[in-house]
Amino acid sequence: MELSQILVYSFLLFVSMTLLWFFKRLKKSQLSKDQFIFKTLAPLIYNYHHVNEVTTTLFETVGETVPIGGKIFTCNPDNIEHILRSNFSNDSKGADFVELVDIFGDGLFNIDSHLPQWQAEKRMLNYELSFKDFKSFAANVSLKEVETALVPVLQHLSKEKCVVDLQDLFLRFAYDNSFHMIFGINPNLLSPSFPENVFAEAIDVVMETIKCRLIVPVTIWKLFRSLKLRWEGRYCKAVKLIDKTIHDVLTVKKKEMAKGVATTNDLMSPFIRSQGENDKFLRDMTFNAIFAASDTTSSGLTWFFWLVSQSPTAKANILDEIDHVISFDQSKTSKIKVFNQEDVKNMIYLHAAFCESMRLFPPVYMNQRYAAKDDVLPDGSTVKAHTKVRTFLYVSGRIKRIWGEDSNEFKPERWINEDGKIRPELMSKWFIFNVGPRSCMGRDMAFSNMKMVAATILYNFNVEVVECDPTYTKQSMVLFMENGLKVKTSEKIG
Ligand code: HEM
Repeated sequence: MELSQILVYSFLLFVSMTLLWFFKRLKKSQLSKDQFIFKTLAPLIYNYHHVNEVTTTLFETVGETVPIGGKIFTCNPDNIEHILRSNFSNDSKGADFVELVDIFGDGLFNIDSHLPQWQAEKRMLNYELSFKDFKSFAANVSLKEVETALVPVLQHLSKEKCVVDLQDLFLRFAYDNSFHMIFGINPNLLSPSFPENVFAEAIDVVMETIKCRLIVPVTIWKLFRSLKLRWEGRYCKAVKLIDKTIHDVLTVKKKEMAKGVATTNDLMSPFIRSQGENDKFLRDMTFNAIFAASDTTSSGLTWFFWLVSQSPTAKANILDEIDHVISFDQSKTSKIKVFNQEDVKNMIYLHAAFCESMRLFPPVYMNQRYAAKDDVLPDGSTVKAHTKVRTFLYVSGRIKRIWGEDSNEFKPERWINEDGKIRPELMSKWFIFNVGPRSCMGRDMAFSNMKMVAATILYNFNVEVVECDPTYTKQSMVLFMENGLKVKTSEKIG
């Protein structure tokens, strides 16, 4: 028997065992086996690329917390809050998850919070991110990227009447922006020639592989990895490319620093100064920072533009708010208006529109944790020590019990209270940036950058969606559209 046949049979065996286990559990539920197969499991297998919609149906049919194959799957917001915040001391990334996402090395995303190294790294990064000089450097970098790359590229595309994939454009924007902020070096991926973006493509392969690793049995992906088969073979090549790119940029940066000609307000300069010889530390820190800041932000922007294109009311409200903010601004007379961090700070409706779009399409739409000790979740589900718990933010953001009967609709208004402020009580059911000690360290920066981009595009350009299937998503750990968001743009003034 060939190796590939052995693998297929092992996989089928695993699926059968899982089904058997399911049927045992279903005896206790009201669903018949037929209903279960037709309503949930079959679509899950056949609609691999529509997995979020199918997972939503699964939870709606079986309940908000479902044990599957020895793991707990939950979308219950109280459970998620409990795992991430109230009972954080029991939270662990788990050794096998760390191995599964080995691309992150010993970077912040991957270190178990019980290790002193996590505290130390978090402290160091927090210090640098909150440093005044870095903050103004980062804000300037983003403004320049909008002014000198995003706007000229959109003007060029508008003039040429070209169709462009907005998702690809935002990825290029985000990579240029984060490389520049992290190293002080801009790879200029966002330019009218649209150069090959091999780094982002390699990250795509890596994220696809991680998703496969989460789905197939551990023994199978490890066997594939040791033989460099299929996705594991592609993963291996992609990791080499990522490591080489980071190594090359760090080498240039170190040389420039030694000659005294480098920008030094960027994120990595202090780390290079203090950890110059520790290449592994610098590589891991760099990869974690680039990934944290790039893929998530571009995903957030893409879904936002898709939703706004479907809602003339939301678009009109955003434009009204922008008009109100710039009515005091002398530069209104200039041809193109680029919005900076200060301009967008008080744009509450725009802020609400991003909260709403990320509620419906969270960039990090699922996550995994590991219980260090036995636990009972707020909904009464028991979790044995060392059990993996997978949380599904895509589904928790759509629960009708929490968000109302219109939970699938894009309504930024739901976030704003009578005083015109963002409703704090909704924030406690919204985990897009995580909550608790492991919450996102770039949340404010992400909001600020996304709002700058959105305000600048919406104010200066018309964006018409030409082609998009929002239900067909990429196999990735970050929520991307499989075929992108194809649009035509035209300049409003001039
Ligand atoms: C829309 C944009 C973003 C979203 C949705 C997002 C979401 C998240 C989420 C869900 C986590 C928790 C991951 C986990 O523990 O499993 C996280 C962690 C983190 N994020 Fe973000 N993020 C975004 C942008 C950024 C940016 C721009 C930066 C950096 C400048 C950043 C830096 C970090 C860091 C350093 C962590 C690790 C925190 C820790 O584990 O202690 N993020 N983010």
